[in-house]
Amino acid sequence: GLPRRVSIWEVGPRDGLQNEKAIVDVGVKLEFLDRLAEAGLTTLEATSFVHPKWVPQLADAERLLEGLVRRDGVRYPVLVPNERGLERAFAAGVGDIAVFGSATETFAKRNLNSTVDGQFSMFEPTIGRALAEGLRVRGYLSMCFGDPWEGPVAVEQVVRAGKRLLDLGCFQLSLGDTIGVATAGQVERLLNAFTEAGVGIDKLAVHFHDTYGQALANTLAALHRGVSTVDSSAGGLGGCPYAESATGNLATEDLVWLLDGLGVEHGVDLGSLVRTSVWMAERLGRPSPSNVVKALAG
Ligand code: HMG
Ligand code: MG
Repeated sequence: GLPRRVSIWEVGPRDGLQNEKAIVDVGVKLEFLDRLAEAGLTTLEATSFVHPKWVPQLADAERLLEGLVRRDGVRYPVLVPNERGLERAFAAGVGDIAVFGSATETFAKRNLNSTVDGQFSMFEPTIGRALAEGLRVRGYLSMCFGDPWEGPVAVEQVVRAGKRLLDLGCFQLSLGDTIGVATAGQVERLLNAFTEAGVGIDKLAVHFHDTYGQALANTLAALHRGVSTVDSSAGGLGGCPYAESATGNLATEDLVWLLDGLGVEHGVDLGSLVRTSVWMAERLGRPSPSNVVKALAG
């Protein structure tokens, strides 16, 4: 059955902005984060401590954390790939991190300059130190459904890599459809494979990109399997550097509209969120691709 409440993991400031062509001023990012908190979102993925040459859009991570006014009851996780990133996150006073691995060899090379095995050698000491310091660590797994270079990805391959992230101490595993090719039946099969392998559904989150317009259908399939943490980006911010189409993550507004209709709690004020996405779209100079934003912005 459906969960009574869904936790929305807002990735707009990180996944959204990392894929926008425009480099957004740190002051605008800070206002964006504050508006998202004001709208009721309680998990705001703020930025990444990655190599600035790999993701120039987030090269201001230190300045962002310095200027961040943390609100009570709001978590501000950041992405960290390795020990160097962890040291930067420690210095910035971060309390929540996420490591991000790949289910496929090609993406491990392209995204982390590593291999599927090599990424775990990088994560192991990173997660170990983070946990010892009392941080909370999430694990992302990319290319869980399809890979632009390798095609469809075998379910067993995804489950194996995902379990390794959980075994290293991640409190949650977010299953990424990095290029937005998944369909609902595939989502169901992957979630079933995880639970058959002994992973509790409460350990799993879903992270859909909307390239083929399937993100909401995929989310519904995951909700019906009992998943209760869903990643999304305000206004559907972002694009995908590895797919032709210029669409980003599932839009938070689309998710909220769905959850409202289902009577599932989420804690977000949709009107306030839409105003924030319209404001952000003005800063970026392009309209939000979200249908719900378009319908409500009037
Ligand atoms: P590398 O070039 O192999 O790094 O990159 P290295 O370990 O060989 O070090 C080279 C230099 O980089 C050294 O400096 C390091 O200190 C420095 P030098 O000695 O030459 O002066 N360095 C760093 N600097 C700052 N921060 C760091 C850091 N690490 C090393 N953390 C690396 C390896 C992992 C660093 C690189 O590949 C990288 O930064 N990758 C990040 C890519 C990324 O952020 N991708 C987007 C996030 S993943 C995603 O979006 C998917 C997701 O949304 C889910 C989904 O949709 O599927 C999560
Ligand atoms: Mg993503």
